[in-house]
Amino acid sequence: MKGYDVVIVGAGGAGLRTAIECARDPSIKVAVVSKVYPTRSHTGAAQGGLNASLGNAMPQDSPEIHAFDTIKGSDFLADQEAVYFMCKEAPEVVYELDRWGVPFSRIENGKIAQRPFGGASFPRTVYSADRTGHVLLHTLFEQALARDNIDFFNEFFLLDLIHNRQRVKGVVLYDIKNGEVITLRAKTVVLATGGFARIYWQRSTNAIGNTGDGVAVALLNGIPLKDMEFIQFHPTGLAKTGILLSEACRGEGGYLINKLGERFMARYAPEKMELAPRDMVSRAIEYEIREGRGFGEGTSAYVLLDLRHLGEEKIKERLPQVRQLAIDFEGVDPVYDPVPIRPSAHYCMGGIHIENYMTSSTALEGLYAVGECACVSVHGANRLGGNSLIELLVFGKFCGIAAREYAKQVDFLEMTQGEEKKGVEFIEELMNRQGYEKLSDIRRRMGEITWEKVGIFRDETSLRSAYEELSELIQRWEKIPVVDKSKVFNTNLVEVIELRNMLHLARAVAYCALHRKESRGGHYREDYPERDDENFLKHTLLTQEGDKLFIEYIPVDIKHHQPAERKY
Ligand code: FUM
Repeated sequence: MKGYDVVIVGAGGAGLRTAIECARDPSIKVAVVSKVYPTRSHTGAAQGGLNASLGNAMPQDSPEIHAFDTIKGSDFLADQEAVYFMCKEAPEVVYELDRWGVPFSRIENGKIAQRPFGGASFPRTVYSADRTGHVLLHTLFEQALARDNIDFFNEFFLLDLIHNRQRVKGVVLYDIKNGEVITLRAKTVVLATGGFARIYWQRSTNAIGNTGDGVAVALLNGIPLKDMEFIQFHPTGLAKTGILLSEACRGEGGYLINKLGERFMARYAPEKMELAPRDMVSRAIEYEIREGRGFGEGTSAYVLLDLRHLGEEKIKERLPQVRQLAIDFEGVDPVYDPVPIRPSAHYCMGGIHIENYMTSSTALEGLYAVGECACVSVHGANRLGGNSLIELLVFGKFCGIAAREYAKQVDFLEMTQGEEKKGVEFIEELMNRQGYEKLSDIRRRMGEITWEKVGIFRDETSLRSAYEELSELIQRWEKIPVVDKSKVFNTNLVEVIELRNMLHLARAVAYCALHRKESRGGHYREDYPERDDENFLKHTLLTQEGDKLFIEYIPVDIKHHQPAERKY
């Protein structure tokens, strides 16, 4: 059995940045495991950019103002020391990317360009046209490939963690290419498996593979998750598919208009208008639709994103991918026509509970988590656009240092025979399972439940019913057979396991949302429409034992800014 000092699961921005940092010490052996080929990771879909107070557009910007915007945007649920840490470290990790060759867009004096994004006091978002994630991912992959002490396990799927309840011992992986199960011993494991917004199956900006595998494996192993109720709906998903049209559209000056031709954001955020934070803009769009000022009906209703006044040249220079996506998937060229859009599930503020933001350590010794699968928490109840890429770079760097240094101090733990066989038995059981349920039916129903009952608007009745129905779907999952019996690229088998992961996470979201009887950021309860700092200025911690869920609450770090009403 192979052993590594650090095994990193996930090869998106978070996993790769962590790997690069671990590998700075040539004595450290690093494995990077990825379900897809690394350059297909979802980081590549990030369009608009990443936030760092370089002050290139407006010299008044500073890490402190970046931190304040982030805390206000989070509806005061972010841990403030962690936010300050991220904002202070942000410029350095951006300059590092610049040195590594990321082709950032520039202003005339040659400095890195910065564009306005929602909830930000100044233009702060560093970008490369609207393909920022793509170039960032490729640059990080090049850097990781150049390091001899990193081994890649591409197209390996995470099945389980091995641990003795105190410390992690390794991971169990399924080799998608040939159907083999392997176990890797590890002194430390870093989960960097991304988010799980695909629980909103029919309406998400996320890649099909964003099924929250690392978060689900943590939950099923009794490791606490934090703030799972907070899901971000990006305001501008394409109407028909939910595919992302970047916030950069509004940052560059795009308007949102309703059926009456009104820039309706004037009603909801008169100062910031289309550049209010995402939770507010998404709710505003849904209100317009509900009140009959949208186009179309039911789930196919929409409003319009108008970019025409930006002109062809600017659209082609700054938003080329947006333009192509609108043409390919909506049949509309934004140079000539407004684009139908509607909010789409985009980001999970919640994730694996991080105990120490300086190291990204979790409740299990030797286990770390970074990126969207982790909850530090720097986004609280609502993330600002552009703060996701910067989070994964900053915390990836410091997690890499911590994981590497920890690995130097410990030996591998012994594995029992039972532990070594854990994955083989699981796969055999699945492959031999008899059952009559259909994967696609259960997945579709999960998507309907989450969108309708755990969506932008929620209440006691919808959440209770979602929790109950999702629990039933978890039972029904046991009766889904793996129809494809082959070993090579058995995507049917992988999808069955992914669905288990999503069902558990969807239920976790509904359960935590049911217990938070207030509205804050992305969590909007129609039966409790106000924020309630007296009772709910606290993080939710969720654990699962067997099929039972347990909730407790822990305090928010309010070191710098007292909660105040959020106005834009
Ligand atoms: O709209 C966007 O370009 C997405 C950015 C983000 O989620 O940070």
